Amino acid sequence: MSTGQANSGSRVAIVTGAARPWGIGRATALALARRGYDIVIADVRPDWGAEAAESIARETGRSSLFVATDISDRGQVGELVGQSMARFGRIDALINDAAINFPSRTEDFTDDQFHRLIGVNLLGPMLCTQAVIGPMRAAGYGRVVNLASTAPFNPPPASMAPVSLYNAAKGGLIGWTKSAATELAPYGIVVNVVAVGGLSNAMGSDEAPTAEREEYMLNVVHRGQLPWGRTMQPAESAEIVAYVADAPNHALLGATIHASGGRVMPL
Ligand SMILES: NC(=O)c1ccc[n+]([C@@H]2O[C@H](COP(=O)([O-])OP(=O)(O)OC[C@H]3O[C@@H](n4cnc5c(N)ncnc54)[C@H](O)[C@@H]3O)[C@@H](O)[C@H]2O)c1
Repeated sequence: MSTGQANSGSRVAIVTGAARPWGIGRATALALARRGYDIVIADVRPDWGAEAAESIARETGRSSLFVATDISDRGQVGELVGQSMARFGRIDALINDAAINFPSRTEDFTDDQFHRLIGVNLLGPMLCTQAVIGPMRAAGYGRVVNLASTAPFNPPPASMAPVSLYNAAKGGLIGWTKSAATELAPYGIVVNVVAVGGLSNAMGSDEAPTAEREEYMLNVVHRGQLPWGRTMQPAESAEIVAYVADAPNHALLGATIHASGGRVMPL
């Protein structure tokens, strides 16, 4: 049985979906670099990805590497872990942040939409986790954080944002996390979920958030459900993800940590 303690030396985190300049993934990569991690960014956007790796290294002085990766492709995920190990020789943390979303209804979703969304949002995190088990098990230490959402707990109104497929994937991600946590704990690998929400940041948008969007999210979408009276910033969610990724022991295991500024407060 592993002690679950990190080896000495610089720790290394792979963050999927860390390329988008105003996303939670990018903010998480920065938060982990500030905590002393070297960073591997895995994303389908080479334009944003290369710039993200460069800017995080410049700002924090840590090493960073961008590996163009579609996380729903087993071969590309293998390449990601291979390149990470070749460059850094260890993987201490995996942040499964990358995800997609588009409107989907139970009534009329297609097989293609199902496979596309489940492929990225559920199969992707499972493939990435499977691929890091070898190096983490050999080290007797590892941390996996899966990004979920408030949506499976309290979906937005279907008239505003129908999220059938997204919720099927994120609900599945939460359920699978508990199995992975149980299976991998003996190797010193700790797996948890952070369910983020209450943001104004539109998933997948190529546009930086605007004041109008903030106003719409606060007063229309999240109306009355944000006790702070403002939306969460990606950097605030990212701090919680980085904190969970740094968990010193197994006490937090298979848990769903809600980081939505009170948007949902499940019992
Ligand atoms: N933004 C929100 O309001 C919100 C709310 C609840 C939950 N979340 C969850 O938080 C996480 C981060 O969301 P975000 O909106 O900050 O997005 P983000 O910008 O952090 O992540 C999206 C990134 O994933 C990348 N990506 C898309 N498909 C990919 C693939 N197949 N392989 C690799 N990379 C891929 C994109 O290029 C982008 O850089 C996601 O898991 C999302 O489901 C977000």
